[in-house]
Amino acid sequence: MKAIQYRSPGGLSNLNIGQTEDPGVPAAGEIRVKIHACSLNRHDYNVALGLLPVENGRILMSDGAGIIEAMGSEVSGFAIGDRVVSTFFPDWGQGDAPLATFARTTGDGLDGYGVETVVRSANWFTHVPRDWSLAEAATLPTAGLTAWRALVTEGHIRAGQDVLVLGTGGVAIFALQFAKRMGARVIVTSSSDEKLERAVGLGADFGVNYRRQENWSEAVLELTEGRGVDLVVETAGPGTLPQSIKATRIGGRIVLVGVLTGLSGQVPTLALMGRQQTLQGITVGSRCHQIEMIRALNAMDLRPVIDATYPFTRIVEAFQFQESGRHFGKICIEC
Ligand SMILES: NC(=O)c1ccc[n+]([C@@H]2O[C@H](COP(=O)([O-])OP(=O)(O)OC[C@H]3O[C@@H](n4cnc5c(N)ncnc54)[C@H](OP(=O)(O)O)[C@@H]3O)[C@@H](O)[C@H]2O)c1
Repeated sequence: MKAIQYRSPGGLSNLNIGQTEDPGVPAAGEIRVKIHACSLNRHDYNVALGLLPVENGRILMSDGAGIIEAMGSEVSGFAIGDRVVSTFFPDWGQGDAPLATFARTTGDGLDGYGVETVVRSANWFTHVPRDWSLAEAATLPTAGLTAWRALVTEGHIRAGQDVLVLGTGGVAIFALQFAKRMGARVIVTSSSDEKLERAVGLGADFGVNYRRQENWSEAVLELTEGRGVDLVVETAGPGTLPQSIKATRIGGRIVLVGVLTGLSGQVPTLALMGRQQTLQGITVGSRCHQIEMIRALNAMDLRPVIDATYPFTRIVEAFQFQESGRHFGKICIEC
């Protein structure tokens, strides 16, 4: 079986399309899934580069979607032929996360879905949204769920609220789409006017170019009549947090999901405290959150934005496209 494997010390030129053994017959509680698609996340890219050290030969890709080929005994809720999608934290069913690391995350501490077929616990999967392609479904476990949880599970957004979304990557575009379906007014920032136009085409109410306007919080305040937004989906981290705090209303919430500008930095604590804001870090979500999101997607008119889809064997080109920053929304690979 073909598999996308990490080769020490990492780097795209070291990525290996290798061969692994067929995973065999599912035991009790397990399902055998033919993987049809994966989506690329910043996390997968960081693992591929060796920035998040993993074992030599680790099968990459956190997010996979496919079709059940066989089932062991004691599996309930699934049938052979069902279309399923993976979960980012296979051990996190509900409640608080059991771990604060990626030691039990697929495509990192555990083998991922960049492989033709897997045999894994049925609890590591959920059903896919009705009528979605498997490539579309593969965009959900990391990017989709992070945006959903930031806005809905933790953010409790309501119709009429103002939401700020930073950038136009996978998480940000899902956040834009979910926030609009929930009745919010959405402001998107981007380095590119062309991408801002595309975001407006998807329903964004306003776009702000953060390259041209360094103090972009001023534009956000102007667009919100001086009040500031109710919620920010903070994908960029320490480099943008001071602006996000200024752009958020008194009592508003900043959900920190990304660290695109660095792993640590200074937080203007006095401004955060003075504005009585909540700064909350989140890491993806539980299986239960994923099931809630998929139930909502079955009731919503929303399809993910997939900018490009590559064949499995062209994974390096797919990562290079992600690396270029030219993408808008998600990038997928199909097996
Ligand atoms: N906590 C979690 O659960 C979780 C889950 C998923 C992802 N993440 C993290 O969230 C971040 C985004 O992930 P992703 O998969 O959406 O990445 P991505 O698809 O690669 O998106 C990157 C986009 O972010 C934008 N960006 C970069 N620097 C920016 C800045 N200074 N200000 C505003 N926007 C900026 C750019 O948008 P423009 O090209 O429009 O400028 C870029 O295209 C990453 O740090 C990732 O590790 C965290």
